[in-house]
Amino acid sequence: MKKKVTKAIIPAAGLGTRFLPATKAMPKEMLPILNKPTIQYIVEEAVESGIEDILIVTGKGKRAIEDHFDNNFELEDNLLRKEKYHLLEEVRASSKVEIHYIRQKEAKGLGHAIWCARKFIGNEPFAVLLGDDIVQAEKPCLKQLIEQYDESQASIIGVQQVAEEDTQRYGIIDPYSKKGRSYQVKNFVEKPKQGTAPSTLAILGRYILTPEIFPFLGQHNVGKGGEIQLTDAIQQLNGIQDVFAYEFEGKRYDVGEMIGFIRTTMEFALNNQEFGPEVEAMMAELLLEKKILSLNLEI
Ligand code: G1P
Repeated sequence: MKKKVTKAIIPAAGLGTRFLPATKAMPKEMLPILNKPTIQYIVEEAVESGIEDILIVTGKGKRAIEDHFDNNFELEDNLLRKEKYHLLEEVRASSKVEIHYIRQKEAKGLGHAIWCARKFIGNEPFAVLLGDDIVQAEKPCLKQLIEQYDESQASIIGVQQVAEEDTQRYGIIDPYSKKGRSYQVKNFVEKPKQGTAPSTLAILGRYILTPEIFPFLGQHNVGKGGEIQLTDAIQQLNGIQDVFAYEFEGKRYDVGEMIGFIRTTMEFALNNQEFGPEVEAMMAELLLEKKILSLNLEI
């Protein structure tokens, strides 16, 4: 019988050191792009892809995530009385899905975070969405992968081309054949050293995996950076059953580092229907001011 992907894991236990001091008392997943925390974009993609249950793997200091996705009766009542229906809808957006939580007690890496979810997943295929990657696409990125899974019933990893010099920041695939957007893969390599990457196709935070991955994660093999790596377990899984890579359509935003975060904020603001034109004028004005200032300095 064909299996369906209805469960997803969102790991959210990372310390967020790249965003200190903002993340000293606030989870990095709660940092907003405009008025929405990054993790909400991820949850919405999962919901739009047909996911019914989400497990968020949290850690110390992550309570705000649970509060965010909880019902807030006082707030909802207030919005209702003030007839702010649009905001009410926004606030209730995540109530369409069951969100569950588990704590990763030690920071042992992404592979370990996923392993912590094994009882929740049981013997079913499941999705993983990483919070550092927001993808804007006509068809949600995860949905594209799920459709592939529905056909092949095999694990499938979302990839896209990155610049050669960036390959050391990602899991990289070594493909050996291509059909449409789908690749058969020889090797999955976590963060290859500069100049050694087998391709420029990078794993970008979206996975569909079969439960056969768990025994490999359970070996707790330590990989790159002294952490238990999901990519290493995927490489092992590929040794016993096909793991495909799929070059998804859509634009991916890296919100896991400062410069990507700034760029995403600027782009989302520019594209915003309500205040995009005003932001555009503001940016032009700021650039002009900067130019005039530097010309004055030169004179
Ligand atoms: C993780 C994965 C890596 C993947 C990346 C995508 O790395 O280990 O394979 O390419 O996410 O964002 P991290 O960014 O957590 O170091």
